[in-house]
Amino acid sequence: MSGNESRAKAPTAHSTTSREDAHAPVEKIDFDDYSADYDALLRESTKLYADDSEYFARYKVDLIRNAIRRPIARVLEYGCGTGRNIAYLQAAFPDAEIVGTDVSAASLRVAAEANPRALFEVEREGLDLGAFDIIFVASVFHHIPPVERPAVMATLAGRLAHGGSIDIFEHNPFNPVTRRIVSSCPFDADAVLLKPAELRALFRGAGLDLQRQSYCLFVPPKLSWLLPLEKHLGWLPLGGQYWVSAGQAR
Ligand SMILES: C[S@@+](CC[C@H](N)C(=O)[O-])C[C@H]1O[C@@H](n2cnc3c(N)ncnc32)[C@H](O)[C@@H]1O
Repeated sequence: MSGNESRAKAPTAHSTTSREDAHAPVEKIDFDDYSADYDALLRESTKLYADDSEYFARYKVDLIRNAIRRPIARVLEYGCGTGRNIAYLQAAFPDAEIVGTDVSAASLRVAAEANPRALFEVEREGLDLGAFDIIFVASVFHHIPPVERPAVMATLAGRLAHGGSIDIFEHNPFNPVTRRIVSSCPFDADAVLLKPAELRALFRGAGLDLQRQSYCLFVPPKLSWLLPLEKHLGWLPLGGQYWVSAGQAR
């Protein structure tokens, strides 16, 4: 990891829109505090759905790998945390440079140790990493206070290479199982879930065109024989998560 690792630690209070008490201010989670036991907590909170928490990383990267046909030279995972998706991105795009960023320096240290071939940088204002063909963002936006989301999306849009895409996976607030998992997970205590319409509006606000919207993660891995059905269900707002993708407006 290189660059300035310091960052503001002050908690951000913001109001929520999808939590039980929609008016209570929430302290922003500092993922430095979870870098050592992130995997264990994720496994514990998702065990009803999947025994193997690696499943989620594999699943999402497979989705984008199968959908993206253009040549890919550079991939950014924004909010990569402890780097759970990085090895899968590396395997899916073996010729690409893979870069991971996050506001949590402690999480990036874990990511860098496990992924010595990837580059990791602490997110900070003015960070210039050049342009990327894919910007992959998984389970990050619900941790960003709503008022800060347009600026983050503008930053991502500014890092997009010509013809590139921003691919965002988010928890589906319409799915009661997802909401239950989120409410029981300690590092989701600041989560303000977003509907796809909010991400579409953020794309529009950053001058990007929507390329795809699809619900996903319908079938738990133990029912893997039903997985082929999923590609017909993208329209159905019952998946555990959803995937939206956008690129520069033509
Ligand atoms: C639930 S974790 C997801 C980590 C990883 N994307 C994954 O799928 O395993 C959310 C991550 O978003 C990071 N994060 C929160 N706000 C952020 C921001 N404004 N910019 C970049 N990363 C942020 C957190 O530090 C944390 O590592």
